[in-house]
Amino acid sequence: MSNKLDCMGMCSEFSKMVLLSDIVRRETSGCIPSSYVRPKNERPNLLDMESSDVSIPLINLHEMDDHQHSLVVKAIGEACKSDGFFMVKNHGIPETVLSEMLRISKEYFKLPECERMKAYSDDPKKTMRLSTSCNVKIEKVASWRDYLRLHCYPLKDFIHQWPSNPHSFQEIVGEYCKRVRELALKLLEAISESLGMEKKYMEKALGKQGQHMAINYYPPCPQPELTFGLPGHNDPNAITILLQDTVPGLQILRNGKWLAVNPLPNTLIINIGNQIEVLSNGRYKSVLHRAIVNKDNERISVATFYCPSYDAVMEPARELVDEEHPRITKAFTYGEYYDQFWNLDLQSESCLDLFKV
Ligand code: OGA
Ligand code: NI
Repeated sequence: MSNKLDCMGMCSEFSKMVLLSDIVRRETSGCIPSSYVRPKNERPNLLDMESSDVSIPLINLHEMDDHQHSLVVKAIGEACKSDGFFMVKNHGIPETVLSEMLRISKEYFKLPECERMKAYSDDPKKTMRLSTSCNVKIEKVASWRDYLRLHCYPLKDFIHQWPSNPHSFQEIVGEYCKRVRELALKLLEAISESLGMEKKYMEKALGKQGQHMAINYYPPCPQPELTFGLPGHNDPNAITILLQDTVPGLQILRNGKWLAVNPLPNTLIINIGNQIEVLSNGRYKSVLHRAIVNKDNERISVATFYCPSYDAVMEPARELVDEEHPRITKAFTYGEYYDQFWNLDLQSESCLDLFKV
């Protein structure tokens, strides 16, 4: 107990600093600041996990371009239905584009604090910002993460707002964004087809579309059992494409248990966001996931959120509504939804509930 008090005493002096990475750099007590400690019943419980030899489906997209097309579409549909998550290999993005993206991200988070702070903002409406935790203005407990959030599409409208240090940041991240968009469109086609819809259904439903990116930096954490990198949430957008480095941390909820989705080289992780759940009238579910942290290693992940444009109207596809499947939500604009999401402190499960009929 006295140890804990010591920790809190020591840690209070850090409240003036904003970025977690800089708190970590200065912290020497071996304890995390009290503002990061979750209440007992909300901690990760690192021992109660689904067995590590179970994982989410791994789908080979190479086969999508040939006679196996319908099998791949079927596999994607099944994964969306059962897990809400799957991994893809042979996705068409060259290995070097992935490794360069991770390298430059790490380099960015190694820049001196004063350089990175130029981009700092706690305003979720900014189209380019560095921030920490999740939503520092409203959250009660902080999360063990810093992140750089970028709007990426149309690329030419945003790329010049991005950090110009490291030197090749814009070029490398820009290339990654273009490649990921191609993949997102391919996946949206497969998802549409798997629902028996016309290929371009989802893409059209998203209107002019948006693409946002979060480059997540999770520093090593002296007490990973007390906090999260990201607490359980589901993504508010249409689909998410996640690139992670070699350090585990992502977990998804399956049958009431948390399942680790460990990194596999050159694969990307895809998950269904709230808007595909809506458009598919609940056929496909957005699944709760979270990121845990660990004592020894920092971790980088790059999440691409492919989204509707703010003025696009979201509602279940008419073809997927019938007596057996009554519509799950009313119609709303993505802008309305997104504003609510940021007001809710990452409880996007309840966010979707706000739009249900
Ligand atoms: C996210 C997310 C998971 C991870 O950024 O929305 O779920 O492993 N990230 O970083
Ligand atoms: Ni997420």
